[in-house]
Amino acid sequence: MKKITIAIDGFSSTGKSTLAKQLAKHLGYIYVDTGAMYRAVTLFTMQKGYISNEFFNKETLINSLPLIKLYFQFNADLGFAEMYLNDVNVEKEIRTIEVSNFVSKVAEVSEVRAKLVEQQKEMGRNKAIVMDGRDIGTVVFPDAELKIFMTASAETRAQRRFDELQAKGDSVTYEEVLKNVQDRDYIDTHRDDSPLVIADDAIEIDNSYLSREEQFQAVLELIEEVISN
Ligand code: DC
Repeated sequence: MKKITIAIDGFSSTGKSTLAKQLAKHLGYIYVDTGAMYRAVTLFTMQKGYISNEFFNKETLINSLPLIKLYFQFNADLGFAEMYLNDVNVEKEIRTIEVSNFVSKVAEVSEVRAKLVEQQKEMGRNKAIVMDGRDIGTVVFPDAELKIFMTASAETRAQRRFDELQAKGDSVTYEEVLKNVQDRDYIDTHRDDSPLVIADDAIEIDNSYLSREEQFQAVLELIEEVISN
């Protein structure tokens, strides 16, 4: 069967990773969550004290980039690959609201993007990959056979993220999460380097009123079409 590259981009909390994981599992493809990589670099930046609400020491981060080793390791119990930062599993730490609040700032740094994009391209060298992020269809895999762009209203996305964080016992308010979603939308779409834009050949899916299953089936049909052509 023909192996393809599937690029999934879109706003934060649109369920990109849920869809990407479902697809990868169904197709036997590799799944790569590029947001996790930006989050891991952000965690490193916070741990080193290079970023706070008052300052961001970009130059020091850029000089430290060679010290950052990132990789994914498949966890058979969970059924997906977890993020490792310098040989430490950081899957939990990278999902906190603190990391979410700083990640867009770190993701704006061109040197950070260049390092991660290079690694992402390498991971997709043999195709049979589903990668999600913000610039996958535009920068990482401009030649991907299938590009999906996911959207949903900010309120719908904030409610989903809020429910997830609450279930994990994170004591955040809905208003805090909504503000984080709106702030990240703004920074992600306005940054100079690789802003979040819809690729010309991407298919847009607004999933505000779609169930996971409906969305999955719709994308599977698109994949079948691409593979049979
Ligand atoms: O998908 P996510 O919410 O975990 O992503 C975290 C942040 O990382 C997001 O606010 C923007 C950034 N990001 C990016 O700039 N490029 C990507 N390919 C993936 C994520």
